[in-house]
Amino acid sequence: MKILVTGGCGFIGSHTVCELLDNDYEVVIIDNLSNSKIEVIDKIKRITNKEVYFYEGNVQDKDLLQRIFKENTIDGVIHFAGLKAVGESVKVPLMYYCNNIDSTLTLLEVMSECNCKNIVFSSSATVYGVQDTPKYVETMDRGKSSSPYGETKAIIEKILEDLYTSDPTFKITILRYFNPVGAHKSGLIGENPNGIPNNLMPYILKVAVHELPELTIFGNDYDTPDGTCIRDYIHVVDLAKGHIKALEHAHNHEPNIYTYNLGSGHGVSVGEMVTAFEKANNLKLNYKYGARREGDLPEYYADPSKALRELGWKTEESLEDMCKDSYHFITMEKGE
Ligand code: NAD
Ligand code: UD1
Repeated sequence: MKILVTGGCGFIGSHTVCELLDNDYEVVIIDNLSNSKIEVIDKIKRITNKEVYFYEGNVQDKDLLQRIFKENTIDGVIHFAGLKAVGESVKVPLMYYCNNIDSTLTLLEVMSECNCKNIVFSSSATVYGVQDTPKYVETMDRGKSSSPYGETKAIIEKILEDLYTSDPTFKITILRYFNPVGAHKSGLIGENPNGIPNNLMPYILKVAVHELPELTIFGNDYDTPDGTCIRDYIHVVDLAKGHIKALEHAHNHEPNIYTYNLGSGHGVSVGEMVTAFEKANNLKLNYKYGARREGDLPEYYADPSKALRELGWKTEESLEDMCKDSYHFITMEKGE
């Protein structure tokens, strides 16, 4: 089977491409390198010892997509390509709506034209918004989006639902990720954003390698055991494996629209993450407590039981693995 992976040079995409190649899928990547580097392609080849086909370009470019589908017999698509910085999406919402939604519409149009009707879409736990309980389950309605980024995910989920209603020959799998962290065991690929990171693990890593002086923990007065926010962190390799399970499931089932949480099911506080990182890597992190970050929810985590029941998927990597693998990657990146 040949899979088109949009955004395959990015953090989650590159790990998923490795899993696909390890499982004998053929892979074609389209990525415009707006948030990734071309070197990732060589690293994927080094890790897997397999060939991967790469097209540099924008998923909004219909001519390019048509060419890709003409030059390759694509059996399915995993659609990662998108902009993902929550804060930036508040500042430049039009760029986010345009990039994320237009690329999805263009992709779906070309897929329909080429009769390729099998797509796995990267959604986010952010679509749940605020719920009455912290344990998010797929039967809950989507909540109010807290940012234009989150809104693009909710809109795309709705577009996919409407598409399925109009054309029930589509196999659509929506995967709602919780908080992906960690890196490939090789240390060759991982997440290392340019500039000052917004997310917790990339920030911790920059503090650990002394690129930033200290971590600010956003709030220690939440109604949680240690006062800091609780999230469901998931190792990116576990997440990548979830995509293989989703493809296998789609292959073995009738067309439908399937939605799954991909998370560990366990909440970890920011304080616990800091302690786990220090212990796993035998170091001390400089940190201080600061004000709450606007828009942060005190606590949420996945109910991952549907993914276990229907996909046969659950997380295997521990919090210690997430901390060790992330640190291994950043020290390799820095050549330490
Ligand atoms: P990433 O930024 O590392 O990867 C996205 C890739 O898509 C990048 O390589 C970028 O260059 C590419 N891209 C963006 N727009 C494109 C376009 N129009 N055409 C071609 N390529 C384009 O992000 P990631 O963390 O790997 O996330 C992958 C997907 O998962 C995204 O859709 C993201 O919104 C979603 N997601 C991520 C997280 C997370 O915390 N990382 C959580 C939930 C959902
Ligand atoms: C954020 C996004 C969410 C997106 C997710 C992807 C917001 C409000 N939400 O989730 O839409 O789907 O990333 O992973 O941005 N923290 C600190 N100090 C820091 C950075 C983070 O204390 O320097 C805390 C945060 O307050 C939060 C936790 O660490 O409690 C995790 O933060 P982060 O990694 O940004 O993810 P989320 O906020 O859960």
